[in-house]
Amino acid sequence: MRIVLLWVCLAAFAQDKEDVTLPGTAEDLARGKKLYLGSCTYCHGPTGDGGKGADLARRELVRAKTDGDLARIIENGIPGTEMPAAWHMTRREVTQTAAFVRSLAKVDVRAVAGNAVNGLALYGKHGCAGCHTVKQTGGYRGGFMGPDLSSIGLKRSAAHLREAVLSPAASLPDDFMPARVVTKGGQTVEGRRVHEDTFTIAIRDAAGNNHSFLKAGLQSVSLDRNSSPMPSYKDKLRDTELDDLIAYLVSLKEPL
Ligand code: HEC
Ligand code: HEC
Repeated sequence: MRIVLLWVCLAAFAQDKEDVTLPGTAEDLARGKKLYLGSCTYCHGPTGDGGKGADLARRELVRAKTDGDLARIIENGIPGTEMPAAWHMTRREVTQTAAFVRSLAKVDVRAVAGNAVNGLALYGKHGCAGCHTVKQTGGYRGGFMGPDLSSIGLKRSAAHLREAVLSPAASLPDDFMPARVVTKGGQTVEGRRVHEDTFTIAIRDAAGNNHSFLKAGLQSVSLDRNSSPMPSYKDKLRDTELDDLIAYLVSLKEPL
């Protein structure tokens, strides 16, 4: 009995490492589509062209080069990112969803209009680096008020990046929600919420200092879901400049 159990464990482990063959019948794809529409559309869009999540309608996915990687990403999520694990899916459902994701790439390969080199110049000209870091040769450069953009081209679709630049408050990343707490002692701390659970909240202020609080010791906590410290660039960029800037952001694909 014990030996059988060990064998089952080893088999499960081996299966994890091994590459996976995705199912290919019309029923599998239909089931995969249904699962995708139920669990993935919110972030990746109904045709996979992304949004809050990465663009999946590409021939090559950076983090999911093999079908085995793709299945593992769906099963386990990508730790440390907003990509969640699909705990609710069976192994078969995971592979059906993966098969549907692969089918999205056949639709088309969209090129981003615009010139990334001009975009880099605009990035400098408009002071983006005052708030954002980007990894360059020699390390990370830039400010810390906004998110690190080193791998933003892997994380978000071009459409989402456009929205982020034109109307920053429209889709705040989870850990950039402006927050303000007042302690029972009357002290006020403002910044962005970097962590919150039932009992505690942590805020990073504009100078980059972290403050953690036990909620029991607070008079009030207010989160502002509708405002961003980032200015809108709607009236500051011509259409072609916006295309160039987006092409530059899409090119930032530093693996984490
Ligand atoms: C809450 C939003 C969210 C949901 C829901 C979500 N994802 Fe993601 N996904 C993301 C984000 C954000 C990334 C980019 C992570 C990163 O690289 O930082 C990502 C990345 C991925 C990647 C890697 C892309 C690459 O270029 O290698 C795959 C594949 C993927 N998601 C598939 C799925 C599938 C399939 C589902 C549904 C089962 C799903 N995701 C549900 C947000 C989400
Ligand atoms: C005053 C500081 C500040 C400046 C200047 C600034 N940003 Fe931001 N940016 C932020 C903050 C804070 C956030 C997170 C909140 C949000 O999404 O609005 C953000 C979010 C973003 C995001 C979305 C990131 C994500 O994970 O979805 C992108 C893309 C971005 N900025 C690009 C730019 C570009 C390009 C410029 C220059 C044209 C710029 N920012 C200038 C502070 C700034």
